Amino acid sequence: MQHPLNSIKSLYRNPETPGSLFLSLEGIEGSGKSTQIKEIEEFVKGKGLRVLTLREPGGTAFGEKLREAILNSETPLHPLAECHLFLASRAQLLKEKILPFLLVPGSVVILDRYIDSTLAYQGKARKLGYQTVLTLHQFDPLNLLPHRTYFLDIELETSLERQKIRGNDKDYFESQKQEFYQNLVDGYRELSELFSDRILKLNAENSISEVTALILSDLERLIP
Ligand code: TYD
Repeated sequence: MQHPLNSIKSLYRNPETPGSLFLSLEGIEGSGKSTQIKEIEEFVKGKGLRVLTLREPGGTAFGEKLREAILNSETPLHPLAECHLFLASRAQLLKEKILPFLLVPGSVVILDRYIDSTLAYQGKARKLGYQTVLTLHQFDPLNLLPHRTYFLDIELETSLERQKIRGNDKDYFESQKQEFYQNLVDGYRELSELFSDRILKLNAENSISEVTALILSDLERLIP
C-alpha cells in the first residue's frame, strides 16, 4: 500500500514548544484507555510537568454538544457527515484548549482519542478511506499530530466480553454489527504499521501493569 501521508506529508506538524508533549490514546471499547490515562497523568505530574487531559469528541462546551448529537443520534448518519462532526469538535478543542496549553514549555496534553479514531472509525469501518480523512486534516489547526500515540490493542472477543461485563446502554457506535468492530481492529492495526514512527502498539490483552510499564518507559525517553 502506498503510504497515505506521502502526498500531503509536508502539511503535517508536531507541536514545537520545547519540553511540551502531545500524547493520544487509541483503541476500541474496553481496551483500558481510561486506566492508562490515569497512570500517565500521575507519572507526568511526578516529573513536575503541567498536565491537561481531554477526551474526544467533546472537551469544550461546543464539542460536548456535538458529542451528544453524534452519540445519541437516532438516524444513521452519512459517514462524511459523521466525519465532519468529529472534525468540528476537534478543531474547536485545538483552538480553545490544546494549542494554548502547549504554548507553555513543560506542558503535556493527554488526549483520549484523536485523528486515529477518525481514521479507524470513519476511514476504515465506515469506508471513507484513509486518504479522505487525512485530506480533511490538512488545514490548520487539524494538521497537528501528536508526538506519540499509544494504541491499546485487544481482540474483538475481549472487547465484547468486557462490554458485556460493564452492561451499559449502547450508544450510536456500540450498537453496530460485529463486522464494523472487526474492521476497527484491523484498521487500528494497519494504522500502527503505516504510522509506526508515531504510534506505539501495545498488547492490551496483557495485564494493566505490564502495559503501564511499557508506556512509562517510553515516556522516560520522550520527556527531556
Ligand atoms: P466514548 O464513549 O468516548 O468511547 P470510548 O469510551 O470507547 O472511548 O465515545 C466516543 C465514540 O466515538 C467511540 O465509539 C468512538 C467514536 N469516534 C469516532 O467514530 N470518530 C472519531 O473521530 C472519534 C474521536 C470518536
